[in-house]
Amino acid sequence: MSAIESVLVENRVFPPSEATIKAARISGMPAYEALCKEAERDFEGFWARLARENLQWTRPFTKTLDESNAPFYKWFEDGELNASANCLDRHIGTPVENKTAIVFESDDGQVSRVTYKELLARVGQFANALKAQGIRKGDRVIIYMPMGVEGVVAMQACARIGATHSVVFGGFSAKSIHERVIDAGAVAVVTANYQLRGGKEMGLKAIVDEALAMGGCDSVKTVFVYMRTPTACNMVAGRDKTFDEVLKGQPTECKPEPVGAEHPLFILYTSGSTGKPKGVQHSTGGYLLWSKLTMDWTFDLKPQDLFWCTADIGWITGHSYVAYGPLAAGATQLIFEGIPTYPHSGRFWQMIEKHKVSIFYTAPTAIRSLIKAAETDAKVHPKNWDLTSLRILGTVGEPINPEAWMWYYRNVGGERCPIVDTFWQTETGGHVITPLPGATPLVPGSCTLPLPGIMAAIVDEAGHDIPNGSGGMLVIKRPWPSMIRTIWGDPERFRKSYFPEEMGGRIYLAGDGAVRDAKTGYFRITGRIDDVLNVSGHRLGTMEIESALVSKTDLVAEAAVVGRPDDLTGEAVCAFVVLKRPRPTGEEAKKIANELRNWVAKEIGPIAKPKDIRFGENLPKTRSGKIMRRLLRSIAKGEKITQDVTTLENPAILDQLSETN
Ligand code: WTA
Repeated sequence: MSAIESVLVENRVFPPSEATIKAARISGMPAYEALCKEAERDFEGFWARLARENLQWTRPFTKTLDESNAPFYKWFEDGELNASANCLDRHIGTPVENKTAIVFESDDGQVSRVTYKELLARVGQFANALKAQGIRKGDRVIIYMPMGVEGVVAMQACARIGATHSVVFGGFSAKSIHERVIDAGAVAVVTANYQLRGGKEMGLKAIVDEALAMGGCDSVKTVFVYMRTPTACNMVAGRDKTFDEVLKGQPTECKPEPVGAEHPLFILYTSGSTGKPKGVQHSTGGYLLWSKLTMDWTFDLKPQDLFWCTADIGWITGHSYVAYGPLAAGATQLIFEGIPTYPHSGRFWQMIEKHKVSIFYTAPTAIRSLIKAAETDAKVHPKNWDLTSLRILGTVGEPINPEAWMWYYRNVGGERCPIVDTFWQTETGGHVITPLPGATPLVPGSCTLPLPGIMAAIVDEAGHDIPNGSGGMLVIKRPWPSMIRTIWGDPERFRKSYFPEEMGGRIYLAGDGAVRDAKTGYFRITGRIDDVLNVSGHRLGTMEIESALVSKTDLVAEAAVVGRPDDLTGEAVCAFVVLKRPRPTGEEAKKIANELRNWVAKEIGPIAKPKDIRFGENLPKTRSGKIMRRLLRSIAKGEKITQDVTTLENPAILDQLSETN
């Protein structure tokens, strides 16, 4: 049975315990329903109340929502605030000021701590350093950093002066940085000499150098280099400066720059249906409101909690639930530099015990790989550690199969901790469909119900509601404060990608298929309905990988990329390639497949490497020349071909394309 099928027949229900309900912020289903009703009754009043209660405004807003230029919605537009002040300064003079903001554990297990007060000083000092290099409100800054306090400081410092950051995941290639520097028109890059992962020192600065040497990056005037390790790296005179150099003599106090609520806090690039990643632009007010509020709602955050989100700051999860949400909510959070399998696959469980983590938030892929590790080596099974500090578990990024859910529930949560399966996207800014730990009865594999104020629905191509029990397209019918504002520099693509004309041009199309349970109305996400793949919870565009493959012009004539189910990574990349030379077989095919994998790693990043590469003399096409992707998906899965293939010019290529290398 496939993962999706097993989700569809799932009928186990795990209601929260009476004690959990009693202690929760949103206590029981009636409390959840009351919030939903409030939002339905007075939509703007509901959001205005939350925005006033949860954020500090230097200038209060008088308008809540402006829909006059839909789908370019505006929230709290005439209000002013500063995101960094709302994450740090707000705690000064309260009991939180001397609380630990971040517990940092390095790759090699060393632990350090910073309090809110100390973090504020570090952010202020770095903000002054940015200003001293001429960086101003509205400028764009690329951040290419390892996981650690400094990455968060860099993001917060940009926010403090009103500069818009764009974080690039440390696993992305020079070419990806280059594209983003140019698209965003960045004036500076913040990076580190090296990053440490799994005991290895890996260059970051060298990749930035390579990116900036690709041409067209004249806008970049400064490269800030954090010396993570003592190893020297290349420094370009006049352009590159170490953190020590720029911080020297800078005061730790820096007045936060008030910005309008709609001011772009950040741009985060993500994969879409076409070759070029989209720069998802987020606001300051609406975005921050939701990252703060979902900390309270979804994670039921309490002052004594130790929160751990394992996501990298290069992804949206690391923005909302590392760099902004936990700080705005005054949480103590753990940040981990390394990887879950080093020095052994019990590292996560060991860290939960060591730091007494109470809320743990990770990706289904990580869980699946740790299940596999625990099954092969009993020494790394979670039962070897004391995990009783845990109170709430969460997952994000991809569907979780009920088997993995049950294992997580039993072996990590001790059948005591609710699991919040949070559905959301880079574009939604924060959780949109998720259980609430002290209210929602859980069903393994279902993200259950929309958060209050999120008008999620399932519709057909014309935007008409589909009855519960049948599948359709997931949409959100009303705007919400943390939604994407536009695609940086490409408003038309924003409109076309997310607000289809056929549906009236105002409702948000998520790009996922979903079905609601006939009885409970619970949502189950069935996967992307566009050309986006989800590999280990990372979003990859099939077209993006195809463009990378065909850009190897000396070798590749044509390429088609599809996803196929994978037990470990959810989906795996499968590429069908036609070469500019005779179709290779045997050892030669293996060699070329590897060469192409490395090429893709260099063009996009190692996460985009195709797991399967298959060679054919041609690709299966319709009479009009369109590649038959559905057929390729079947071949990739190893399914028997039941589709009509009589139109194929050369049916023999199907056998060729079935051979793996
Ligand atoms: C998928 C990550 C099922 C979905 C926060 C979505 C999920 C894409 C879940 C967004 C979930 C995310 N259950 N699928 N709980 N969470 N997805 O932009 O396909 O990296 O469209 O944001 O991940 O990925 P992104």
